[in-house]
Amino acid sequence: MQILDGKALSLKIREEVKKEVEELKTNGITPGLAVILVGNDPASQTYVKMKAKACKMTGIYSITHEMPEDISEEEIIETIEMMNKNPNIDGILVQLPLPKHIDTTKILEVIDPKKDVDGFHPYNFGRLNQGLDSFVPCTPLGVMELLKEYNIDVKGLNACVVGASNIVGKPMAALLLNSFATVDICHIYTKDLKSHTKRADLLVVGVGKPNLITEDMVKDGAIVIDIGINKVDDKIIGDVDFENVSKKASFITPVPGGVGPMTIAMLLKNTLKAAKNER
Ligand code: GUN
Repeated sequence: MQILDGKALSLKIREEVKKEVEELKTNGITPGLAVILVGNDPASQTYVKMKAKACKMTGIYSITHEMPEDISEEEIIETIEMMNKNPNIDGILVQLPLPKHIDTTKILEVIDPKKDVDGFHPYNFGRLNQGLDSFVPCTPLGVMELLKEYNIDVKGLNACVVGASNIVGKPMAALLLNSFATVDICHIYTKDLKSHTKRADLLVVGVGKPNLITEDMVKDGAIVIDIGINKVDDKIIGDVDFENVSKKASFITPVPGGVGPMTIAMLLKNTLKAAKNER
């Protein structure tokens, strides 16, 4: 069994991005990212702080617009429209989830697709599904980079994606399909989850349920990617029972130190891509 070390790869990518940012700066261009954070969700606050810190360390300019929980849709939209027009801002990210009274789709559709570094705009998601160049959501993009780093070719593999969210599961499945894997997508209404996971050469899990995937659900020699981040008794664990599943897997991502750090590295990469495309 080999560990897929997302921490190490993310540091390498961050160094590469940093170098490219320095080059852009010598040409008078400083990549800029605007982050919109609504409300007081502690996890979202932590993620946004991590993103801002990563930008700073890479030389990317970033600004966080913090808004109260009871803010109106119109005010969020006005801020996004301002960022769409701002030539110093290349990327715009709205941290999810948004409060219940806000229509998330309506908000995401206001972001200029050329600045949509999270790849959540239906324009980018549509292009991704057609196999065209687009902004790709950072977490699934990070998974693909990790597989590439370890020379894992997914072509022809039976892949099983557990979780069908717009930000992880669906784009993950699209990326794997674009790379010619045979993709099974499982979700909360899937009957007999084990019958799907057991057949998978590549199992990707992003649900948010600690220990959802146990050893008996995994094929011998499978590649196992754990996207879950769950806080249990002040410890961060994934969706996979790492201790037992790792005995069966050929490759596996740890939590923490697997996919998590890759997500932030991909955000930096996407912001750099936006800065290069736009100017
Ligand atoms: N909430 C959970 N994951 C993400 C992410 O990758 N981007 C944004 N904007 N919000 C999230």
